[in-house]
Amino acid sequence: MKKVIAIYPGSFDPLTNGHLDLIERGSKIFDELVVAILRNPEKDPLFSLSERREMMEAMTEPWNNVRVDTFEGLMVDYAVKAKASAVLRGIRAISDYEYELQMALMNRKLEPGLETVFMMPAEQFSYLSSRLVREIAQLGGSIKGLVPQAVEQRLREKLDPSVKFQQKSKSKARKKP
Ligand code: PNS
Repeated sequence: MKKVIAIYPGSFDPLTNGHLDLIERGSKIFDELVVAILRNPEKDPLFSLSERREMMEAMTEPWNNVRVDTFEGLMVDYAVKAKASAVLRGIRAISDYEYELQMALMNRKLEPGLETVFMMPAEQFSYLSSRLVREIAQLGGSIKGLVPQAVEQRLREKLDPSVKFQQKSKSKARKKP
């Protein structure tokens, strides 16, 4: 039987619990799900492509049929190369719909064999976005429960490099006899 491969493209800067919720849902309906992280030279991301990839790989380890890759250029070209027949996108609220519809129809025009599949994340993630997570973290607010703990830690280190330094010195002090 033909395996159904789907790609889940996005910026994931950073990945949120909403993304993970969608990945879990997608992993149940597709044989293989490829999380495809966009390298966008026009955007200045908070996390580099390799940092985003590393975090995504660590967080998707529990799912055997999920793998992580990066891409640049047209998403449909990447999807064809990955032998994907579907693109997974999350829709949180009506406000997402217009942009997502436009993108899905344009992608269909570019590659008619590729279907976009929309899924809704759990309600508690319906107001969550990477942009808001970045903004709240940058302004010193709490992002607990919005991103995995490891991502929260990476955000703190990114925004205040002294956090990493303090933790290194603490663990060094603990190691001393
Ligand atoms: O997480 P995002 O930023 O909402 O993801 C948007 C993404 C990566 C899916 C979209 O920007 C994309 O597909 N970019 C690749 C370039 C492309 O194919 N553009 C034409 C879209 S119709």
